[in-house]
Amino acid sequence: MKILVATEKPFAKVAIDGIKAVTDKAGYNLVLLEKYTEKKQLLDAVADADAIIIRSDIIDAEVFAAAKNLKIVVRAGAGYDNVDLEAATKAGVCVMNTPGQNANAVAELALGLMVYGVRNLYNGTSGTELMGKKLGILAYGNVGRNVARIAKGFGMEIYAYDAYCPKEVIEKDGVKALNSTEELFETCQVVSLHIPATAETKNSINYNLLSKMPKNAMLLNTARKEVINEAELIKIMEERADFRYITDIMPVANDEFAAKFAGRYFATPKKMGAQTAEANINAGIAAANQIVGFLNDGIDKFRVNK
Ligand code: 3PG
Repeated sequence: MKILVATEKPFAKVAIDGIKAVTDKAGYNLVLLEKYTEKKQLLDAVADADAIIIRSDIIDAEVFAAAKNLKIVVRAGAGYDNVDLEAATKAGVCVMNTPGQNANAVAELALGLMVYGVRNLYNGTSGTELMGKKLGILAYGNVGRNVARIAKGFGMEIYAYDAYCPKEVIEKDGVKALNSTEELFETCQVVSLHIPATAETKNSINYNLLSKMPKNAMLLNTARKEVINEAELIKIMEERADFRYITDIMPVANDEFAAKFAGRYFATPKKMGAQTAEANINAGIAAANQIVGFLNDGIDKFRVNK
């Protein structure tokens, strides 16, 4: 069996060592395609692969067509918007993610970016503190929960809204559960996004929502760039000099944001949320174990396609 790790943004070496230990033990052959720059390289590498471990790598119908032996793709991470699930199902390929495995890393980065934002990007001027500020967590999944846990240590007042998570689950953590996304944006000076990119959420963070935020608003995005309506975010930031946007996923209009909103806009040069040794190890090894479980015993617990 050939297990391909296809990562444009590579794992830490310790994670690869851990993945290899799992695949060696199972008697599988591990092959690496890291830092590839052309789709052709991916198409060639998948030709004889039985399983693929990916991160944010795009796996579309063309990739499935090129991968004649493919049985399973595991996205080592949470969001699987980069995989064409319909094409996978048509090709008879199982797709899984590894939920929760990199959540703490993303949450720690979210808090780090929050501090960076309220301290004016460490530009030598006087900033503000997070303590006592109202933090709104949009979607209370694995990352949202970790953000709440860490933000408690900062003494923030924490609110959350999640259309799919019962209020009791949220409130059990000492977090106030609100009734809608609108209410969250209306209530909180700092809003941290933890929603996946779906047909429903794409472009959903729009002018109407953003304009509800209280004075000295800060929007934090460690989720996906697609959930933001960039033109409408630019509009609100033009109208409100008190509005900050800090993100781990560089917007398409990065140059315009950087030119217009110096000092209150920041984007990491490359998505860094899950880029820790620990998250790479957790997600990478989980992916390898899920592949072995699936190929050897048909276990498909984290399957995300039908
Ligand atoms: C995820 O969905 O797991 C995160 O966005 C991390 O993505 P990455 O593996 O590309 O860093």
